[in-house]
Parts: sequence; C-alpha cells; structure tokens
Amino acid sequence: MSKPDAIQQNESLWDAIARSERDWFPVVDAEQVAQARSGQLRIHVTAQQAIPPGWLDLVAGKKILCLAGGGGQQGPLLAAAGAEVTVFDLSREQLERDQQVAERESLSIQTVQGDMRDLSPFASGSFDAIVNPCSVCYCPDVLPVWQECHRVLRPGGRLMTGLINPVNFLFDEIKACRGDFQVAHPIPYSDLDLSTEERETILGDQRPIRFGHRLSDMLGGLTEVGFQIDGLFEDRWGAGDPLSQFIDLFLAVRATRRD
Ligand SMILES: C[S@@+](CC[C@H](N)C(=O)[O-])C[C@H]1O[C@@H](n2cnc3c(N)ncnc32)[C@H](O)[C@@H]1O
Repeated sequence: MSKPDAIQQNESLWDAIARSERDWFPVVDAEQVAQARSGQLRIHVTAQQAIPPGWLDLVAGKKILCLAGGGGQQGPLLAAAGAEVTVFDLSREQLERDQQVAERESLSIQTVQGDMRDLSPFASGSFDAIVNPCSVCYCPDVLPVWQECHRVLRPGGRLMTGLINPVNFLFDEIKACRGDFQVAHPIPYSDLDLSTEERETILGDQRPIRFGHRLSDMLGGLTEVGFQIDGLFEDRWGAGDPLSQFIDLFLAVRATRRD
C-alpha cells in the first residue's frame, strides 16, 4: 500500500478535529478574551505552561503571525491585546473557529490557509513576531519552516515555537500505555514508517500524522537559518501520557532574527 501524502491527510484530519464533538482544543472563552484586553495575556505554544510575559512584551499595534495557529486560541487573545493578527493554518475549519471567536468578541483577525513550509502569501519582513503553537511535528521537514519564518520576520523579530522532544517518539506506543517502555523507533521518526496495521491501531482515523525531528534540525536549524535562541523552557503533556512521569516532553523556544 502506498504511503499517504501527510500534508493532504493532515488537512482533512485537522478539519475533522475542528468540528469534533469532543472538542480537543476548546476555543478561548469571553473571560480569557477580557483578560487579554485588560493586559493579562496568556498565550500557549505548548500544552500546560503559558509563555513568560517577557517573551512577548509589546503586543499592541504589532503585526503578529499565528503560524499553524488556527483553532480559536492564540489569534483572538493577541487581537484582544491590540495586535494586528494574521492566523495561518492548513485547516480551513480551524481558521473558521478563529473567525467565529473574532465575530463573537468583535475582534479583527485575518486568516490565510496554507502549508507552513510555504509562506509566499506574505512579503519579506512583514511581521514583528510569530507565535507558532506546537505544529512542526506535523511537517515532514523543519528547515523550510524556519527559513520562511526568518524571511517573513523583520530583523530583530521574534519567533515563539512549541516543539516535541524526540524522546517522545522512541517507544512502542501501545506497550508504553501499559507502562512497558520498549525502544522501537529511530529518530527522526515518522508515523508514515509504521506498518498499515500499526497505523490503524495507533493512529486510528482521528490522529494527524506526526514526525519526530532531531534536536539538531529543530534547534540547530533555527540557528542555521539566522536565529539566535534566547529563551527555552520545558513543559508537560496533560495527565494520562505514560512518559510524562519521567520527562517533560515539550520545548518552548524563543528565537530572535539576527540580521
Ligand atoms: C496543535 S494545533 C495548534 C494550534 C491551536 N491553536 C492550539 O493552540 O492548540 C496544530 C495546528 O497546526 C495546523 N497544521 C498542521 N500541519 C500544518 C501545516 N503543514 N501548515 C500549516 N498548519 C498546519 C493544524 O491544522 C492545527 O491547527
């Protein structure tokens, strides 16, 4: 059986998640928007811990790109804090959620659909900051994303991104759920390398296709294309993830365009 095109498949899977009854990623509520309006902005690029206030100091009037940031979370909060917000995402239905929140809260947000490896809708140097909630794990390659981020940021502009530690992808997932940690996959990891049977058992028909990138591609890649990393913290999944009792698997990174 031929391997599916990951990007095409992820587009429809994220559309399905956006309209899911389970509401995995709830849109922000009126209270969160009111807090952002009053200067208490809490933005996440990883699962639990908001980015430190100092990472995004001046928001009002700034041009901010929420990269792969659809779903009605970061975009509406940044707009409520006074930023000029563009949300870019693969999934049309994730972007619709941003527009629904914007309408509910009388906010203005521009939405653009596309693949984060190609930001050609935007001119070079268009943005003061990029907020990229954890998503390069849905791309087969990271470097084109960082190159495009570097291009569309102005010099001195900042990228805040959520990454997954490759340790997350090392183990046999079914066994790990039973507390039996057996190393099964090399890094870089790709869900596309699973057998059809494993794919059906592990991924089902709901989970987007993920890629476990090397730290040298994620962190080294940032410095390679012209960023300086100037902030980093680790964060954890929510309850229920078997590995999280041993290690925090998210990395939140702030990087500044050097030139
Ligand atoms: C975990 S969600 C993060 C955004 C969400 N606002 C949140 O905080 O949970 C990942 C997002 O990445 C988007 N995405 C996945 N692959 C993408 C790609 N190649 N280009 C652009 N967006 C992508 C998905 O549609 C989804 O909205």
